[in-house]
Amino acid sequence: MTADERGQLWHGRFSVAPADELVAFTESLGFDVRLLFDDVACSKAHVRGLQRAGLIDADELGLILGGLDTVEMEYRAGELDFLASDEDVHTAIERRVTEVVGPAGEKLHTGRSRNDQVATAFRRYVLRSLDSLAGRLLDLVDVLIERADEFGTRAGSAYLPGYTHLQQAQPVLLAHHLLAHAWALLRDVDRVADCRRRTDVSPLGAGALAGTSLPLDPDSTAAELGFAARFENSLDATSDRDFAAETLFVCSLIAVHLSRLGEEIVLWSTEEFGFVRLDDAYATGSSMLPQKKNPDIAELARGKAGRVIGDLAGFLATLKGLTLAYNRDLQEDKEPVFDALDTVGGALLACTGLYATVRFNTDRMAAAADSPYAAATDLAELLVTEGVPFRSAHAIVGALVRTSLDDGVPFADLVAAAPELGERALALLAPGVSVLRRTSPGGGGPDPVSEQRLRISAAVADLRGRFGAPES
Ligand code: ARG
Repeated sequence: MTADERGQLWHGRFSVAPADELVAFTESLGFDVRLLFDDVACSKAHVRGLQRAGLIDADELGLILGGLDTVEMEYRAGELDFLASDEDVHTAIERRVTEVVGPAGEKLHTGRSRNDQVATAFRRYVLRSLDSLAGRLLDLVDVLIERADEFGTRAGSAYLPGYTHLQQAQPVLLAHHLLAHAWALLRDVDRVADCRRRTDVSPLGAGALAGTSLPLDPDSTAAELGFAARFENSLDATSDRDFAAETLFVCSLIAVHLSRLGEEIVLWSTEEFGFVRLDDAYATGSSMLPQKKNPDIAELARGKAGRVIGDLAGFLATLKGLTLAYNRDLQEDKEPVFDALDTVGGALLACTGLYATVRFNTDRMAAAADSPYAAATDLAELLVTEGVPFRSAHAIVGALVRTSLDDGVPFADLVAAAPELGERALALLAPGVSVLRRTSPGGGGPDPVSEQRLRISAAVADLRGRFGAPES
């Protein structure tokens, strides 16, 4: 069989058909078919540009646009047949348009290479995916803020131990803890916006690597496709995959944040902690152990971070050392990006449902936070306000804690008997008091958390505005 008979786009230069192993190893249709709608949109912009440049006439333009519509309709209807010679979705579209409209279809690829074509369609897909990612992040942030509001930012609101080294440290409002996760996710939204800005550049018109002798106008195709700008350098345009690497990093950090949320839910839902009870709809059972209720969403939010980080690390290794301009290695850009976007998008939806429905056991949280030792820093700070140097105050209270633990004497008794502290200090050990004393800006007590609550609404509104979404 000749290359011509196999229908390859590049058949003219070859005397025999490609080997089956080459076709099998190099094809990308299996995964890039999801770029079909983006490629059709880019192809429409390209042929309109060809007509403006006088390279096709109005009839040919109408025919090709109609052919592209047909391909899209056939695909939507599940009626687009792919051939073994369709290396990728771009090849398949051009081949089918030509079958449908005849010789005019052979002008579709004028002044274009798959190198600028692929990069343009892929950027368009990534831009849309980044918008969706931002929306899902903001939805999870909204749920975290709603839950924070439910538990309140005033004196008397729910509180829990804050931890460092996973050891109880100082009590904080539950709202403060939930908003801490929300701020991390808002930084992710900001990063998505940043990544989006650099992705929003059209490579269409860069050709294979160096542009073309034909009078094409990349500015107008960029504008028609809604890109903020066209490329500046054709070599860079066709070989730049920074947007893919950045998207993978953005996804990786979101995945890392979700893994931290997930690990916390796993821990908090244990019998030992008992800080949360999962809604039945967002938990799983055991096939053997009837009593079990498992936090599988949280575990997979934790576990899938590994795979997304792998997508990033793998793709950076692919990019490393590539010469200018396009190399076929770059075809390896799509699978990790699709996988990371799918994985993180799904994890965000699942975590949003989990957080919207999880029940917080605020009695358990308060009981854990009301250990008298939790107020140790408050006692030291009381001494500081009376002129005792902090290091001495720390030593005085630390010695009381040690004696209490070593001798099994209640801490409050030792505080009451201590000459530097005495009965007046006992008020600081009363349940629910310590959290009220986290008063500094950005701190975990009611006054700063109320202020923080206003600030986070402003931050959410700003980020929603950057994605053109209505403020909720
Ligand atoms: N499927 C290829 C990709 O995704 C298309 C580009 C092929 N270009 C070429 N010169 N062979 O990168």
